Amino acid sequence: MNKDSSESSEPLLPSHDVRSSLLLSKAPRKLLAPNWSIIILLLLVVYLSIIESIQLFWHKVSSPPYSPANTVLRNEQHFLYRTDDTVYRGEPSEELDSAWDELLLALNIRASPEEMALNHENVTNAVRLPDGDYVALLGVYHQLHCLNTLRMIIYSDYYSQHDDDERVRKIDWNPHHTTHCIESIRRSLMCHADVALYGVEWIADSHEAENMRLRSNAEVTCVNWDAVNSWAKERALVRHQYKVAPGPFEQKH
Ligand SMILES: *[C@@H]1O[C@H](CO)[C@@H](O)[C@H](O)[C@H]1NC(C)=O
Repeated sequence: MNKDSSESSEPLLPSHDVRSSLLLSKAPRKLLAPNWSIIILLLLVVYLSIIESIQLFWHKVSSPPYSPANTVLRNEQHFLYRTDDTVYRGEPSEELDSAWDELLLALNIRASPEEMALNHENVTNAVRLPDGDYVALLGVYHQLHCLNTLRMIIYSDYYSQHDDDERVRKIDWNPHHTTHCIESIRRSLMCHADVALYGVEWIADSHEAENMRLRSNAEVTCVNWDAVNSWAKERALVRHQYKVAPGPFEQKH
């Protein structure tokens, strides 16, 4: 106690000689010493929180938003420009429709309550399966379904004769649904903004109707489709092969 009080009174001592002025110059240093460690500690806290914020921010911008299918996403390089026809192109036929049906097999899939929670879904009125899982779709299948609807509308004569409820290709003629489909494809295209470069080449005299075509040697980064499709097929709810639990608006019959 005595020592403490003598120390705290040191700065108040009159500075008559070198010794007392030395004491004076020593005393403030003693008072400042604990302040420096607080300042260093504060700087450290500020430094660490800045690092933490940068890491959080970087994690947010570098990792994709949640999807249960994120684990199977694998990028690969493809050529943008391809002239080979695929099974999805051409006039309507049994084979063409089968190809599109197969492509859309995993249009509806099941999602677990945990996956719906991770997706921040409001499941109050969500369509459920009798086992407790939910009916869900991946964006790409919704867009493909929309594209298929538009494709069928182009050949509406054929499809009004071949409208077959047993298959995914049952056409939805509702204009509200059709314009919604165009909107959904537009959003998706602009969201993913393919910026690969095309050139244009002459293929005929400039007076011909078809005188130019697009060409490109550009490569594009694509998701490996088979990996996504296999993942989705494993949890596919195949049309007419599953039942949903009664919804909250069900009338008593
Ligand atoms: C969840 O959905 C239900 C039905 O659409 C709605 O009444 C409710 O307000 C929603 N809850 C929240 C938190 O958005």
